Amino acid sequence: MSATKVLVLNGPNLSRLDLREKSYYGDISYPDIETICLVGAKEFGFEVEIKQSNDESELIGWLHGAADSKTPVIFNPAAFTHYSYAIRDAVVMLKAPCIEVHLSNPLSREEFRHTSVISGVVQGSIAGFGLDSYRLAFAAMSKLVK
Ligand code: DQA
Repeated sequence: MSATKVLVLNGPNLSRLDLREKSYYGDISYPDIETICLVGAKEFGFEVEIKQSNDESELIGWLHGAADSKTPVIFNPAAFTHYSYAIRDAVVMLKAPCIEVHLSNPLSREEFRHTSVISGVVQGSIAGFGLDSYRLAFAAMSKLVK
């Protein structure tokens, strides 16, 4: 049987991590996210597709596609986490599990990051473990979908 596919979606500015706050993201760059996702997918026996967009509408389109194909999603919505009701509404329509991930721990940062409009509509959230947040999301996903 072929491996279940997981879609990893990454929101705005994650493509430029190497230029962002070192205190939160250290030396992580976007290719490191891609690498940990390939490693995590292999470890837990998934196929994986990894995408990043700065555009809310493009992310919503990908979520619609995942809903239609019943594909599980690992999702770092980045700043959209904190205010995008449109993305929340798209996540609600997913048919397979969705796990929210963050590299940093938003609860230890500025107050506007303490709200996630996404957390209440996903299976669970993993935050604060750097790149390992993504690997832990694959571990959690394997329990949810296998
Ligand atoms: C982030 C946390 C968000 O608050 C922030 O806007 C990001 C990255 C993280 O992975 O730690 O862009 O989602």
